[in-house]
Amino acid sequence: MIIVYASKTGFTKKYASMLSEKLGVDIVDVKELPKVPKESEVLYLGWMKVGKVQGLQKMKGHKVVAVCGSGTGRSAEPSEEEVKRRNRIENKSFFYLRGGCRPLRDLKGMDKVMLSMFVKAMRKSAEKDERKKEAVEIIVHGFDGVKEENLIPVLKWAEKRMSSLENR
Ligand SMILES: Cc1cc2nc3c(=O)[nH]c(=O)nc-3n(C[C@H](O)[C@H](O)[C@H](O)COP(=O)(O)O)c2cc1C
Repeated sequence: MIIVYASKTGFTKKYASMLSEKLGVDIVDVKELPKVPKESEVLYLGWMKVGKVQGLQKMKGHKVVAVCGSGTGRSAEPSEEEVKRRNRIENKSFFYLRGGCRPLRDLKGMDKVMLSMFVKAMRKSAEKDERKKEAVEIIVHGFDGVKEENLIPVLKWAEKRMSSLENR
């Protein structure tokens, strides 16, 4: 098995590195995809943008067996089923990992524009809604939700998968 990841600001890369260390498998940035043999099983990790796992579409022709999406929500939004549907991975294992984000003032380009618009739209209704309030706070001030314990379900799945491959 090999880990391939897409990470814009480093939070997803942190999870990918932790997994690589714990499982003893190689890790490759999706930008260096030619390094990944087509026959290798891939555990893919990508940051999420409006429910889409970034970089996953580049993996066509590779054997992606499980996908992790990292986002800032407490859980996959709007739901795990919807995220699987949007990313066309209904037949694969999916794990949501809470990542993080840098403060809005540090962002640049389209990401900053998109998130500023999101904050502006949310602020109006956020006063009475705790979840929305939290989402706005996280975007404006930044947040790091990367924790080793969040990887427990992925590690369990990967260890099982790797031992079944060895016994084939
Ligand atoms: C434009 C934009 C859209 C985003 N959309 C989502 C989203 O739909 N759901 C979510 O949970 N996080 C969303 N995020 C947050 C990132 O996915 C999250 O911060 C991620 O952990 C960043 O990973 P990275 O540091 O590896 O790039 C968005 C971030 C940006 C900049």
